[in-house]
Amino acid sequence: MAKLPKKRKIKEKRKGKKVSIIGSGHVGLVTGACLAELGNRVICVDNNVEKIATLNRGEMPIYELGLEELVKRNVRARRLFFTTSIKEGVDNSEIIFIAVNTPPKPDGGADLCYVEAVSREVAKTMESYKIIVEKSTVPVETGKWISRTVKLNNKKNINFDIVSNPEFLREGSAVYDFMHPDRIVLGVQSKKAEKIMRELYQPLNAPIIVTDIESAEIIKHASNSFLAMKISYINSIANICEKVGADINKVAHAIGCDRRIGSDFLYAGVGFGGACLPKDLQAFVGITQKLGYDFDLLKVVEKINHEQREFLVNKVRDAVWNIKDKTIGILGLAFKPNTDDMRNAPSIEIIQMLQREEAKIKAYDPVAIPAARGILKEVTYCKDSYDTANGCDALVILTEWEEFKRLDLKKIKKLMRAPIIIDGRNIFEPEKMKRLGFIYRSIGRST
Ligand code: UDX
Repeated sequence: MAKLPKKRKIKEKRKGKKVSIIGSGHVGLVTGACLAELGNRVICVDNNVEKIATLNRGEMPIYELGLEELVKRNVRARRLFFTTSIKEGVDNSEIIFIAVNTPPKPDGGADLCYVEAVSREVAKTMESYKIIVEKSTVPVETGKWISRTVKLNNKKNINFDIVSNPEFLREGSAVYDFMHPDRIVLGVQSKKAEKIMRELYQPLNAPIIVTDIESAEIIKHASNSFLAMKISYINSIANICEKVGADINKVAHAIGCDRRIGSDFLYAGVGFGGACLPKDLQAFVGITQKLGYDFDLLKVVEKINHEQREFLVNKVRDAVWNIKDKTIGILGLAFKPNTDDMRNAPSIEIIQMLQREEAKIKAYDPVAIPAARGILKEVTYCKDSYDTANGCDALVILTEWEEFKRLDLKKIKKLMRAPIIIDGRNIFEPEKMKRLGFIYRSIGRST
C-alpha cells in the first residue's frame, strides 16, 4: 500500500471521514472510489493479491463506466489507497464497510463465510470505536450474525455499531447511481452511528431513510425482487401481445405512463441476468421459506424468466426450421450493455440450448468476449458484428449495445446466408426490417 498521509497533513475542505472497504469487487471498488471523490480518506482492502497489485499499478480489475478516471484522480489526490491487510484498513478507519462477495450456494442461499471471516478479523483487530457497515447483499438477519460474531471476538471490549446500508447500484452506471441515489437506506441501532453515517453521505444531498437493521435488509430483498417481478410481468404481457398481434412497446409505454406503475423496468426481452437479480431472488425465496412463508409469487417470477430463454430458442427454431448444423450468430454476450459481466447472462443458457441442438455458434460482444471464453466453449468468437454475420443462417441479438442499433443492415444482409434476425431485445422496428427484406422476429411484437 502507498504510504498513508500523516494525520495532521490531511486537509480537506469538508472534514472527510476515514473509511475502509473490505472487498474490492464491483460494489466495494465503486463505493470506495465514490466515497473518496466525496472527500473521504478511503482504504480499499482485498485478499486477492493480484487484484490489489493491479489497482496499485493504476489498472482496473473490472470494466465500469467512469470508474478508472475516478480511481486515478483519487489515488493522485491521496484519498484512495489499496491494501491486502484488513488490519491496515481497520487501524486507519472509523467506518468499515463489508463488501465481500456472497456467492450462491448449491441450495440457492447466499454463502456468508467471507462475511463471517471478515467480521471476526475486524473484531480481533479493532482498538477504537468502529461502525461496521453491511454492504454486501446479504439475507435478512445477517446484521444480527455480524453483531454476534464481532461481540464474540471483541476481546478488548471495544465499542462498535452495526449498520445495514444496502446498495442499489446498477452495473454499467454504478458510479452515476452512487452519486445520484434515489434514496440512501441506513439500518441503524444507535443515534451515534446514524449521525456519523448521515455526515458521510451528506455531500450527496439525497433523501436518507433511517430504519432498524432488519427493515434495511428487507428493503434490499424487496427492491430487487420487485424489479425482477416487473421484468417477468412485462415478459408475460409480451407473450400475450404476440398471440393477439399487439405491440408490447406500445403497451409498456402506456402502462408506464401511470405514475403508480412507472416506466422503468418494463422492457420485454430475454429476461433478467447479472450478479444480483437472479441470485437475490433465489436467496429471498429461500429465506422466506425458512421463515415459514411460501413466496409462490417469486417462484413464478423465476420460472417465467427461465422460460423466456426457451421462447427465444423456439423463435430461432421456427425461423430456421432445423437448428442442427445451422450457423447461428450471436450479437451480445454480456447480461446487459456497458458491462463485461457474464454472470447469469441469458446468452449462456441460450447458446447452450442451441449447442445441444448442434448449432454452430459464432459470437461477438464489444467487451465481454474475454469473460465469455471461460464459460462458453466451442464458440467462434468474432472481431465485430459483420464478421459474425458472415455466412450465418440466423443472427440473434441478446444484448442491446448501442453499436448494434447503428449496424449497416444492408451490409449484414449481404453477408448472411439467410436474412433471418431474432431480436431478443427489440432494438429494431419490425416494419423497417421487413422493408429491408429480413425475416425478423422480436419479443411481443407481431412481424
Ligand atoms: C440490479 C439492480 O438494478 C440494482 O439496484 C442492484 O443493486 C443490483 O442489481 P444490475 O444487475 O446491474 O442491477 O442490472 P439491471 O440494470 O437492474 O438489469 C438486470 C437485468 O434485467 C439485465 O439482464 C437487464 O437486461 C434486465 N432488464 C432490465 C430487462 O430485461 N428489462 C428491463 O426493463 C430492465
